[in-house]
Amino acid sequence: MEDLRCDQPVRGIVENKERGAFYQDAADYWSQIPATVDGMLGGYGHISTVDINGSTQFLRQLFRLKVPPGKGCSIDCGAGIGRITKNLLFNHFKKVDLVEQNPAFVAQARAALESHDKMGNFYCSGLQDFEPTPNTYDVIWCQWVLGHLTDDDLIKFFQRCIRALKKNGIIVVKENCTTSDKLDEDPTDSSVTRPLDHLCRVLQEAGLKCVKQKRQTNFPHGLYPVYMIATRPLLNPNEEISRAKLDTDINREVCEHKSLDVSLEKVEITTPTITCFEEEAIDFQSKVEYSSDDSTKTESDVSTAKELAEKKCDIF
Ligand SMILES: C[S@@+](CC[C@H](N)C(=O)[O-])C[C@H]1O[C@@H](n2cnc3c(N)ncnc32)[C@H](O)[C@@H]1O
Repeated sequence: MEDLRCDQPVRGIVENKERGAFYQDAADYWSQIPATVDGMLGGYGHISTVDINGSTQFLRQLFRLKVPPGKGCSIDCGAGIGRITKNLLFNHFKKVDLVEQNPAFVAQARAALESHDKMGNFYCSGLQDFEPTPNTYDVIWCQWVLGHLTDDDLIKFFQRCIRALKKNGIIVVKENCTTSDKLDEDPTDSSVTRPLDHLCRVLQEAGLKCVKQKRQTNFPHGLYPVYMIATRPLLNPNEEISRAKLDTDINREVCEHKSLDVSLEKVEITTPTITCFEEEAIDFQSKVEYSSDDSTKTESDVSTAKELAEKKCDIF
């Protein structure tokens, strides 16, 4: 797999804000936003169908992988009012949980979705604090929310997600990305938009590898490029458990041999065979591909601050 590590650190993205203020300001922003699809999408409610269609196609491709995820349980992270739960995840999974930090959005999601037979748990929590139940989810879907987490918190969140995956599980990230090499900080909603390669490096640092990646098509001109990235742990967590057990067994064996005064060199340790989906791992595509949907090619092509403001009109 391509190593995306470079000198540029992925940490410390909220340069001028203390961590608590970064999250509180976002919570304050979202508390003013109406609990509607238009509210979730920053006035772009009309793109919801195109977005869901793109996600549906992508998810279908994941089910056609050599080692597909199960269709038992998924979770919608940063779910808002449950737009993705309702229009995407209900169509593919037996049970769907959601997690969202804003109590009013959770209440709205509950009112609209609680009676649905596939609806599972509603968690009201920031992702930076959320502890998903281990070994629970076939697909963890994170969309248009990860810019609200610092790099450090995002890496830790992904690591908790890895533990929450079932065998063959997948974490999907669908996010805006900048085409430049700089983070875009948005003081209005207290979020950042990461360059694609920065997001990929965060995923890699968390211990994830890419199994499929696609740019969303047919969004209106002038929006950030949106990428869907399907990832899996570098090592399947269940196999990691069996490997840990194997390591323990080996250690025990070593200890037993030790107590019999057998020299360590004489103990034969065979490396366990670990299936880790290598056949499916692909390189993260860390450069944004040009699309005819783009109104301009890159942010760096945009010269004036006014143009920049227009170009960066956010989906939320
Ligand atoms: C742009 S909306 C997207 C909602 C949903 N993912 C969708 O696509 O319809 C962003 C959502 O992230 C939530 N959010 C913001 N910061 C969060 C955090 N730290 N943890 C969890 N959710 C957060 C907001 O309250 C809001 O509901």
